[in-house]
Amino acid sequence: MNRSVCILGAGNMGRALVGGLLRSGTRPEQLTVGEKSVAARETLARDFGVSASADNALAAAGAAVVVLAVKPQDAVATLAGLAELFARQRPLVVSVAAGVRIAALQSACGAGIGVVRAMPNRPALVGAGITGLYAAGEVSPADRASAERVLGSVGETVWVPSEEALDVVTALSGSGPAYFFLLAQLMAEAGERLGLEAPAARRLARATLYGSGLLAQAADCDLKRLRAEVTSAGGTTEAAVRVLEGADLRATVAQALAAAAQRSRELAAATAITATGARNS
Ligand SMILES: NC(=O)c1ccc[n+]([C@@H]2O[C@H](COP(=O)([O-])OP(=O)(O)OC[C@H]3O[C@@H](n4cnc5c(N)ncnc54)[C@H](OP(=O)(O)O)[C@@H]3O)[C@@H](O)[C@H]2O)c1
Repeated sequence: MNRSVCILGAGNMGRALVGGLLRSGTRPEQLTVGEKSVAARETLARDFGVSASADNALAAAGAAVVVLAVKPQDAVATLAGLAELFARQRPLVVSVAAGVRIAALQSACGAGIGVVRAMPNRPALVGAGITGLYAAGEVSPADRASAERVLGSVGETVWVPSEEALDVVTALSGSGPAYFFLLAQLMAEAGERLGLEAPAARRLARATLYGSGLLAQAADCDLKRLRAEVTSAGGTTEAAVRVLEGADLRATVAQALAAAAQRSRELAAATAITATGARNS
């Protein structure tokens, strides 16, 4: 990545992005960080050799891309504090703040600043995330490519055509790791009830989750086909899958994702109220 990047907020996600960018070829001198916590600044310097500033304006000065990785309730106020700098410098702003709508981000940044909203997920912390990206029409192809490169440093990226679709991204990949963890936990518990020692059952479930993820990634084919390939007619897997489908797993999963998407919309509405309050106070 040739353009200089500033990360605001060096918590879990900010640190993951710093690590990802450095691993993917961004030179330390092209990277600045604004972080208000002394402890987080010290950790960053120790782990990555990157010195962060307590002053966001200092950190963002000269950056072509500013990545907002503070907590959602701090997002609007953080950007509003930089509006003057943005007016002079005109960076691309990429926000990973969950649920903070693009209109709120744009109005905090000031007129004419390109804003991309990104919804990464937790596996980004180990470089295996996937991020949904949305940009309003005025963001240039070069800026879209920059946003892709920043989030692509911690996993895959996928553009969505509307901001509403980010609520679905949240329901699918954002909350998704928990669904797989729950299933693995239930499998371990069932294995234990069927006679395995608890630690062995847990290891079997966890390694199966990990290995299945790797297989799915390596196969790069339709998930339905992948599943069919490991389900011989009349075999053990088919016996289990029949029970799962009989319990209407399909409808349950659809309901679960719909509930998560709805909650994402509700939280975004609540965040809008909090964020505006924070900006006005
Ligand atoms: N973690 C995830 O899996 C995940 C997934 C998707 C999206 N996100 C989004 O990523 C963002 C960060 O999440 P996180 O998990 O990394 O949170 P986090 O660990 O709490 O990190 C946020 C960091 O930003 C600092 N900060 C707050 N206000 C600031 C400001 N005005 N200027 C500079 N630094 C500031 C915080 O310091 P203090 O602690 O002192 O306030 C904290 O160190 C959130 O908006 C979240 O919605 C996270």
